[in-house]
Amino acid sequence: MNKKWWHDKAAYQIYPKSFLDTNGDGIGDLKGIISKLDYLKDLGIDIIWLSPIYQSPFVDQGYDISDYYKIDEKFGTMDDFDTLLDEAKKRDMHIVMDLVINHCSDKHEWFQKALQDPEGEYGDYFYFRKGKNGNPPSNYRAYFGGSAWEKVEGTDYYYLHMFAKQQPDLNWNNPKVLKELYTMINWWLNKGVSGFRIDAIINIKKDPEFKSFEPDGPDGLTSVCRMVDSVDGVGELLEDLKKNTFEKYDAFTVAEVFNMKKDELIEFVGENGHFSTMFDFSTHQLSFGEHGWYDSKPIQFEDFRRVIFHSQTECLDIGFLANIIENHDEPRGVNRYLPKHARNEAGFKMLGTVSVLLRGLPFLYQGQEIGMQNCRMNSIDEYDDINTKGEYKMALEAGLSDREALEACYENSRDNARTPMQWDDSANAGFSSGTPWLKVNPNYKDINVKEQSGRPDSVLNYYKKLLALRKNDSYREVLTYGACIPMYLDEDNIFAYAREKDNHKVIVLANFSDKPRVLNGDFANRPILLNNMENITLSPSSVTLMPCQAVVFGEI
Ligand code: NOJ
Repeated sequence: MNKKWWHDKAAYQIYPKSFLDTNGDGIGDLKGIISKLDYLKDLGIDIIWLSPIYQSPFVDQGYDISDYYKIDEKFGTMDDFDTLLDEAKKRDMHIVMDLVINHCSDKHEWFQKALQDPEGEYGDYFYFRKGKNGNPPSNYRAYFGGSAWEKVEGTDYYYLHMFAKQQPDLNWNNPKVLKELYTMINWWLNKGVSGFRIDAIINIKKDPEFKSFEPDGPDGLTSVCRMVDSVDGVGELLEDLKKNTFEKYDAFTVAEVFNMKKDELIEFVGENGHFSTMFDFSTHQLSFGEHGWYDSKPIQFEDFRRVIFHSQTECLDIGFLANIIENHDEPRGVNRYLPKHARNEAGFKMLGTVSVLLRGLPFLYQGQEIGMQNCRMNSIDEYDDINTKGEYKMALEAGLSDREALEACYENSRDNARTPMQWDDSANAGFSSGTPWLKVNPNYKDINVKEQSGRPDSVLNYYKKLLALRKNDSYREVLTYGACIPMYLDEDNIFAYAREKDNHKVIVLANFSDKPRVLNGDFANRPILLNNMENITLSPSSVTLMPCQAVVFGEI
């Protein structure tokens, strides 16, 4: 495998709206991010992915872009952004933007012009189709619920939106659209961004016939995914995109891909793949309900371990995945993946250990490094997220009570990860001197950066050690390129693997059960590189792990 500049890096996702507010408007900003670059550097971060900061009406929190060339004034100015690039560079850090090109905002000038004349030049930037017998052109359900077709008042036309109706899908069959998008991407790359996280990219390929499918729910609709699954040829679009943009700049790209077809991994992230890497969402998908959040399932440890090892094995000779436990679209990983008895600092460190030391690029999400948790909201009005409101409604329609629907939101809502970053125990967790745009998790008095910075055994200081270990001169090579070999698979609730390359080997052991566990093996002579507890019980032929204990052994 040819080595790439980003292979041994650690990445961190910032959700700008909730990171740090410096002007008291309750919304995080670029100046806030700049002021925390040293914090991130000290944590061990090299690449920073910013969720969208472009001009937007914020119907879907910036994933609805109305001007790709402007920074939204909520976040600051283009000068602030240039300063961020400069300051990151000084620290040898990379800025990666979010690239949202499956759709734009209905307030984008292209769409505004298209609405004036759906049959004209800009109409062809989108998918306008005539309705059928007074109904939408097909029976697709948008990802956020309801029909994926919105009627244009006063005409027979509907336009396609796979997400919210304020996010019209762009027509990737139109060369003019591609030219506009490529020019814009290259403009940002010329400015000095190191690459992109690429949003919802698998959706760009459509079946222009837009055929209806068998309904899959009581609403008579079928998930728009069915149409995406039914078409081939996204690879050609992705290759063209890469050749005209990223490749020319040796840019780093990490894709959000859900509906990849079997055996396509090599085309996506192989040596000459469409992208540098893509997120491993295999554990996230385990909780998906058949109809929505209201029938989502708790994740069993065995499944969690099985799917991670499957991804690791599948990708080994192909490329690199990006490993996450959470992001801005997910609940907090510590709530989702840890059994109840492990929802404590030892458990948080254990989850961090097994995730960060996998083969692939570790992506931390803001707050993960201090063990931020899901936030209980008292009513649906306390939520902001458009998806959460849609899922709540679907839950009520399916017959759940208000309390049950709120519980489903507590377990699954995207706002769980979007509550403001907890910097200290002062008002609003030190996030803002104004009124935060979203509720601050009341646990900030106990869980915050300031407290953890000053405490050597905190989750934060443990994450620093984890990231430092990946970069330690003696272990960097094996922890970057070494295969991930599962161990102790017949032991339930034990997550164990070796990272191996040539004669080098690192062993990671973690006990997810609520009882001490004895694992046979010759560990006594190995150096202990990390231990999330003070002690460890070793004999010449075994190691005993306490509940939630995670230990990393080095070379003999
Ligand atoms: C995926 C993004 O991560 C999510 O936040 C957004 O709502 C959709 N794509 C639509 O852009």
